[in-house]
Amino acid sequence: MSDPQALKQEILRLTREYSRQVHGPFRPASDPERKPWKAGTTIPYAARVFMEDEVEAAVSSTLDFWLTLGSEGAAMEKELAAFLGVRHSLLVNSGSSANLVAISALTSGKLPDTRRIKPGDEVITVAAGFPTTVAPIVQVGAVPVFIDADPITGNARCGQLEAAYKEGKTKAVMMAHALGNPFDLAVTLSFCRKYDLWLVEDNCDALGCCYSMPRPLAESLGFSENSPGLDEGPDRVVRWTGTWGDISTQSFYPPHHLTMGEGGAVNIVRHQKLKVVAESFRDWGRDCWCPSGIDNTCNKRFGWQLGELPEGYDHKYTYSHLGFNLKPLDPQAAIGRVQLRRLPEFIKARKQNWDTLRRGLAVHGDLLEFSLPTHATAWNPEYGFSWDATGCRTDCSWFGFKIGVRPGAPFTRTALAQELDRNLIGNRMLFGGNLLRQPALAQLRQDHPEAVRVVGEMDGADAIMNSTLFLGTYPGLTSSMLGKMLDVIVSYCNSMSCDAT
Ligand SMILES: Cc1ncc(COP(=O)(O)O)c(C=O)c1O
Repeated sequence: MSDPQALKQEILRLTREYSRQVHGPFRPASDPERKPWKAGTTIPYAARVFMEDEVEAAVSSTLDFWLTLGSEGAAMEKELAAFLGVRHSLLVNSGSSANLVAISALTSGKLPDTRRIKPGDEVITVAAGFPTTVAPIVQVGAVPVFIDADPITGNARCGQLEAAYKEGKTKAVMMAHALGNPFDLAVTLSFCRKYDLWLVEDNCDALGCCYSMPRPLAESLGFSENSPGLDEGPDRVVRWTGTWGDISTQSFYPPHHLTMGEGGAVNIVRHQKLKVVAESFRDWGRDCWCPSGIDNTCNKRFGWQLGELPEGYDHKYTYSHLGFNLKPLDPQAAIGRVQLRRLPEFIKARKQNWDTLRRGLAVHGDLLEFSLPTHATAWNPEYGFSWDATGCRTDCSWFGFKIGVRPGAPFTRTALAQELDRNLIGNRMLFGGNLLRQPALAQLRQDHPEAVRVVGEMDGADAIMNSTLFLGTYPGLTSSMLGKMLDVIVSYCNSMSCDAT
């Protein structure tokens, strides 16, 4: 075969064929060609879910061999921004990098002096969660100020924000929507508006979550538009999480709502200036914004005088920030683009799987405590959730199914985790539990007590650390896998209850 294009097509045809033959267990549970789960094998808490389209996209882009972020990356950035309805999305190589870029952007000298985060300024965050929501705050020389988390929602106790505020010091709030459950955005945004603070939403575990408010409240906070494709009628504003703050982050590591292997994104919700500075921090700290391989986008490559450099110094090698290089590869973006097309189906599956687990475990509500979405007050198998009087609502795109073991139960969370392990059922703790108790933070506080501030007791974060775990809700879980998960937990609760009586 001498025509290179025909050769490529043949390689891609064979690639698809290969993938269909070997990747059967990774297809979405809803796909008719999905290989059934074999009893006696592991049920992971999460996994890559993909088909031959993703493998073809990766191979096709690899054959083109541009490698560094290029046309696939630019297309994915546009498609993700359009899905969310934000001004820009910038791809990075992980969710942790996204958090680092997001908070670094807020330190830029290009921002108004009263608002930029300077060394020693404070950023309010939450004690329970993933370490790289917090680490970048320290890495930019700011002080993380910890508030507690609520064991039922897994989220920050936003009522403590006021107590954490320090005039002249607090510059931002940076928190995650825990396990796909939005934190209280109404309270957090009101707080941020009152004191003119940035809000960074770590949306790494929450792509596809919605938060809605009565329209007058939303408008008072500066939001009148729904996110694309969302609508709860004229009296409400409904938007994806990750689109309420100033800047938000995604992870595309395999357990997340979509994957590119390693990867992530920084979403710039509104301010163009934040795009320019976030991109600069991602791309070595440079002042120039030419895509890779392109010169002179600004039309005055040799026409700048910045810093103490001589007039006309090459803009391509002019650095306005002490940046990083955190870009992913173009073949990763090619995979991500296919995954993005599956996102609505993935979100639906995560919700359904959560519901199946909730119904199946309801019988043991005396021993186990289940998550409630923020603003929900109760769950009922017939009517679903009931809601508090705020008028705010959440619709969760669950990262996991969180279970708390109640204080009087005849077993501990660790015993339940061990039982799940014995039965090859994937389970995880809510990441770092109370992060303040992690060796890294204990060491930091010992070495530099002023590097961290803690507001009140962290009983909720301790309860999360001591009494909860979570199961998977990912779209690769088939009904027989979910059935096995339920069987194991229900049988264990039954047997432990019998032993106790
Ligand atoms: C809330 C949260 N933020 C950030 C991250 C980091 O993402 P990554 O693993 O892509 O670095 C994670 C990872 O799971 C996470 O759960």
